[in-house]
Amino acid sequence: MPEDLNDALASLRPLLLDLESLVRAVAAGRRRGSEPVPSRVELRPVDLAAGRRLQAVLTVANSAPLTRNVTGDEAGRLVDEMLAEPFGNWHVETLDEVRQLRVTKKGQAQVHVARTSRRDVLRRTGHDRVRQRLLDPGDPLFDALGADADKRRQVDAFLRLLAPVAARAAARPIRAGRPLHVADLGCGNAYLTFAAHRYLLQQVGEAGVRTVGVDVRPDMVARNTELAERLGLTGLEFVVGEIAGTDPGPGDLDVVLALHACDTATDDALAVAVTRRAPVVLAAPCCHHDVQRQLAARKAEGQGPPPPYGALTRHPILRERFADVLTDAVRAGILRLAGYRVDVVEFVDSRHTPRNALIRAEWTGARPDDVLRAEYDDLVTAWGIRPRLADLIGKAASL
Ligand SMILES: C[S@@+](CC[C@H](N)C(=O)[O-])C[C@H]1O[C@@H](n2cnc3c(N)ncnc32)[C@H](O)[C@@H]1O
Repeated sequence: MPEDLNDALASLRPLLLDLESLVRAVAAGRRRGSEPVPSRVELRPVDLAAGRRLQAVLTVANSAPLTRNVTGDEAGRLVDEMLAEPFGNWHVETLDEVRQLRVTKKGQAQVHVARTSRRDVLRRTGHDRVRQRLLDPGDPLFDALGADADKRRQVDAFLRLLAPVAARAAARPIRAGRPLHVADLGCGNAYLTFAAHRYLLQQVGEAGVRTVGVDVRPDMVARNTELAERLGLTGLEFVVGEIAGTDPGPGDLDVVLALHACDTATDDALAVAVTRRAPVVLAAPCCHHDVQRQLAARKAEGQGPPPPYGALTRHPILRERFADVLTDAVRAGILRLAGYRVDVVEFVDSRHTPRNALIRAEWTGARPDDVLRAEYDDLVTAWGIRPRLADLIGKAASL
């Protein structure tokens, strides 16, 4: 049954401004003979260091989506402005209902309300909010990048692990009044680079973000640079070069990212982080050939694994998997010796990538204790390996 449009829009206002109950809302489409600017808006609550805010992502033709995080009167004004735009549809999800408003050809509102029971689900699961993507999966950025669903999930999962440490990484640059400086090493197609840049910008606001993607492939760098320009993204640049020999920009480096940088390129990325004493490092390693080769070479020389661990490397598939574990355990150990707090976690379900371990390290400056050092020494001596990371930063980790 069509109803008065102004009344129907007015009934959306309290839903959009209730940040305890709103899950997300999207306005899009246009009414007959009119064109809303922006062409689409997505609203959702976000929890920032400063508290909960209403986040609006506005899509405007031929330019990068604009994100605003607002509260109080400013949130009220923004919602009023959006309700006044001639959108053809509103879709509003709250914990209690999904309300859809469509504007008819006669300029009336057709409203459909479906009651939901999300509060019960939340109570049962103990979560205080519905799990949300950190970036809108419908963000035009992803289409421009051409990322498939698996890559979007990997990137979202990666950002989810970046989120808790991002505020700490941003504290120093915000205090110093300079942009947050981020490097994505072995950036490839740069899905993560673009997404992290967008996400961190939302977090730090006016201080800004300077993100540098480094990759050895000039074609990737040219494509990423062109895309950043086309999307109107500032503070995002790409540099061609080997990770080991490329400067990701002067000044303090705050966050180092490396997603599936091949083989020892992950070690090169970790070495950049340690050398520049980056406070936050997130690296999801890829193939681990270096240690595999070293184990194979020892075997060829008749020096097998230390007893009683022969069975761990007897079969090629186990040898390969064990080399992965050994490599990342050793990397984590070296980072600890270099003054980082480290955890190694699964960052995304293996359905989306088999390379789903992530090393997350935060600089603490803690002096390594003798037990850690002895553990590391015993491990590499027993297996007769010389980790690439130790060669790169042995001095910083006092190895
Ligand atoms: C598997 S891709 C991952 C790309 C991207 N991080 C992602 O997850 O979509 C690895 C990328 O690292 C780059 N790469 C490998 N070794 C490198 C090195 N030593 N220096 C710079 N880039 C490197 C490759 O060119 C490739 O683009």
